[in-house]
Amino acid sequence: MFLKKNKIFFYGRRKGRKLSSSNIKLLKDYSQKFYLQEDQLHKIKFNENNKNILEIGFGNGMNLVHMSLNRPNDLFIGCDVYYNGCVKLLKQIVMQNIRNIKIWPNDINLIIKKFKRNFFDLILILQPDPWPKKKHKKRRLIQQKFLDDLSKVMRHEGKLIISTDHDVMKSWVLEQLHIRRDFTWVKNGFNYENEKPKCIINTKYTCKALENDNVVNWFFFKKN
Ligand SMILES: C[S@@+](CC[C@H](N)C(=O)[O-])C[C@H]1O[C@@H](n2cnc3c(N)ncnc32)[C@H](O)[C@@H]1O
Repeated sequence: MFLKKNKIFFYGRRKGRKLSSSNIKLLKDYSQKFYLQEDQLHKIKFNENNKNILEIGFGNGMNLVHMSLNRPNDLFIGCDVYYNGCVKLLKQIVMQNIRNIKIWPNDINLIIKKFKRNFFDLILILQPDPWPKKKHKKRRLIQQKFLDDLSKVMRHEGKLIISTDHDVMKSWVLEQLHIRRDFTWVKNGFNYENEKPKCIINTKYTCKALENDNVVNWFFFKKN
């Protein structure tokens, strides 16, 4: 996301196919309930015993569905700018009667500062867009300012998990996090670049990577 002359620019796909009439109805009936409204943020309860989890760029949302069903007492906030993906997730929430997911159907940068400090126990960024060309590096989601914002809303010892199968993104993630004092790259098991945690499913982009025999790297960072 960029701000130019007070206008917001987002480089990436925001809309796909036209929505079917049933999806338009779904949005009309349920978006109020399950799409996060900025003015509702202060009403979200701070979960002392349970976890607050944020997935940024959830794609079709299937990992959120999976995790939220397995952890019904935790609160999940899913964020994606891709309109059609948000509707897909909304449909699953309604069909499976899920009550612990809220969707932010927009750029994470527009809301991240508005969460309370120390709010999240876990933040997931699975297969962020790599924007591999050097001239496009400003378009990458993970930037120092963005990490400043994440750091503020994460609890002490909270976890940030990032996965990627893209070499450019792999180096970028390590470069961006290496210089920070507020995050430590932690080992999980024996390796730094470990396997996928069991609680997370193979997302669409992870499946694509595996089909192409690409290695998916998993990075685990602890908030200090
Ligand atoms: C490469 S896709 C990965 C999708 C999914 N995590 C997966 O693994 O299948 C990246 C996703 O991040 C979303 N995205 C990119 N920049 C974003 C931003 N600033 N805020 C919210 N979502 C963003 C895109 O719309 C897209 O759905």
